[in-house]
Amino acid sequence: MKVLVVGGAGYIGSHMVKMLLADGHQVITFDDLSGGFRDAVLGGEFVEGDLADKLALDNVFALHQPDAVMHFASFIQVGESVQLPDKYYRNNFSNTVNLLDTMTAHRVKRFIFSSTAAIFGEPEYVPIDELHPTRPLNPYGRSKWMVEQMLADYGLAFGLRYVCLRYFNAAGADPAGLLGERHEPETHLIPLVLQAASGRRPHIAVFGRDYDTPDGTCIRDYIHIVDLCSAHLLALNMLNDGGQSNCFNLGNGEGFSVQQVIDATQRITGKSIRVVDAERRAGDPARLVADASRARRVLGWVPRHAELDAIIEDAWRWERTTAGHSNM
Ligand code: UFG
Repeated sequence: MKVLVVGGAGYIGSHMVKMLLADGHQVITFDDLSGGFRDAVLGGEFVEGDLADKLALDNVFALHQPDAVMHFASFIQVGESVQLPDKYYRNNFSNTVNLLDTMTAHRVKRFIFSSTAAIFGEPEYVPIDELHPTRPLNPYGRSKWMVEQMLADYGLAFGLRYVCLRYFNAAGADPAGLLGERHEPETHLIPLVLQAASGRRPHIAVFGRDYDTPDGTCIRDYIHIVDLCSAHLLALNMLNDGGQSNCFNLGNGEGFSVQQVIDATQRITGKSIRVVDAERRAGDPARLVADASRARRVLGWVPRHAELDAIIEDAWRWERTTAGHSNM
């Protein structure tokens, strides 16, 4: 298939491009490089462009005539979304309307959307399945939930078939060491702990030790980037085989606390990491764990890198590469 990967120069998108190429697909990456890196796109066509630019989008569809679209291009910082909601609604929502309208105009009817566990808000129960109520707590989560609702409407009106993949905590790196997480600024726990291990940061701050969890720190469900991408590939195949639109929660179903992540990182890297206790970060639920049984059942998804150690080992390989290059 010919797949347009929007945001293919970013962390998850670049791993997806690599996997699609390895699986024999033709890939066109469309990315404005606001958060991504040109050299993270390891093959296929590359088009530098902005989703706000409808003419540029139209040209890409006219020229390449993709069979399907995967959409990774969004802003992801919860705190920033509270300060700058306009930035989040404009890019994550409004620009996605542009993308879907261009797809409709060009009769492209298969769409895979990067959604998030943040659509659920404070969990009423864990593990969180797809039937859990959706009450996002911030503009980031709301912008993603708005797109999910819009997709249902576009499906009914225009025959769009789509899959929403709600990521829990994406982590890890390409096991071959060619790609990894390069957010600027970095806000995610695992890369920050690894930067503290490699000496790029003086310490790791633990945001709160008074949560209602066994060690008092927040629990998250970390999912290896390769397992995340393999779910996209299965979703693409399902749509291609005539499957119906659906939404899937993606995680391993096992939670690890912030302290457990730090302990595992010290063990794996052999480095001692300076830990500083800090205030709670606003909007952090105590525990987020996925029930991904629908993805296993419907897509046949089987995570192959489910252990936290495998996730940290691959991310550590990438951190050691990155720490040696000051421009990365
Ligand atoms: N944490 C620290 N110190 C840090 C960074 C993070 O203690 O320096 C803690 C956080 O408070 C949280 C846990 O580590 O308890 C994980 O934090 P991340 O920022 O790595 O991930 P989040 O769970 O906040 O967010 C991730 C994605 C979001 C998505 C969300 C879904 O990054 O895009 O999952 O819930 F919305």
